[in-house]
Amino acid sequence: MNIIIPVAGEGTRLRPHTHAVPKSLLCVAGKPILGHILDHLEGLDISTLSVVLGEKGDSVIDFCKKYPYKFKYVIQEERLGLGHAIHLGAQGLTGATMVLLGDAIIDVDYRSFCSSDANVLAVKEVADPQRFGIVEAKGDDVVYVEEKPKQPRSNLAIVGLYYFQSVEKISEAINYIMQKDIRTKNEYQLTDALRHLLDTGEKFRIAKIEQWYDCGTAASLLDTNRHLLKKTQHYTKRGNSIIIPPVYIADSARITEAVIGPNVSIGEDVVINSSIVKDSIINNGAKVENALLVESIIGVKASVKSGYKRLSVSDSSVVEFP
Ligand code: G1P
Repeated sequence: MNIIIPVAGEGTRLRPHTHAVPKSLLCVAGKPILGHILDHLEGLDISTLSVVLGEKGDSVIDFCKKYPYKFKYVIQEERLGLGHAIHLGAQGLTGATMVLLGDAIIDVDYRSFCSSDANVLAVKEVADPQRFGIVEAKGDDVVYVEEKPKQPRSNLAIVGLYYFQSVEKISEAINYIMQKDIRTKNEYQLTDALRHLLDTGEKFRIAKIEQWYDCGTAASLLDTNRHLLKKTQHYTKRGNSIIIPPVYIADSARITEAVIGPNVSIGEDVVINSSIVKDSIINNGAKVENALLVESIIGVKASVKSGYKRLSVSDSSVVEFP
């Protein structure tokens, strides 16, 4: 089986972090999003793993070097949509292929997901179906798909995990929508190619997924951090600091006189001194001093310094800091 992972998206909703780092390399629960995805593929028999790169693709290639897969890299120079990205990634591949979007972590048994005798779309019921590709199903059979519909026919969202029995067929379907210039939201959508395949008699089934961790916004990244830390937590006791699990603290991080946790992920060589940090992600090499942080994402090698206040407050007064 082949795998295609598109990671070309600009990650505009995660700015300013994606100015410096591609979205797939943002850290959550101790490692990059792409690291969670690639680690989860262990043990699968993968012929080619095709990665579709955007800007800053070199750092993604560097990161992938530590994995044993046969990688193929393609660059999506123009932002023409997910369908276009998959079309590029599919070039030269044949046969059964799984597509995994590079901005979500899905906890699923890939082996059983791909052992189907039909094409499969992973789906999950969502409260806000207008934001997703939506599937209408009869039993397990897909009868209709639509990308980000204004009036959704169901609340079953495509979560970004697809299994195609023949990569050639999906590639031809994308080619068809590009030739006919069929666009939704001005882009060539994978969902529109799926609908074309359905119209031509191709069968798709749904697989309902429970554990789907979106990483598309700062809020969802922090939420994913909270969920994944329950499994990936790691730390050693630090003499004069208090650690409240779950947390991930890289061994090389230097923590002194601090309270860390719960739900904090701290990268390599981070320095934290005299601070309280909860529900946050502190990336490699960052420095935090005399600070109170909550729901924060601190970038690689960034520095945050706050200070203590000297106060003289009389009886029954109220002092509040924003
Ligand atoms: C893409 C797909 C959409 C799917 C979503 C899942 O949209 O086009 O069908 O529901 O991923 O996250 P995007 O999030 O890139 O706008």
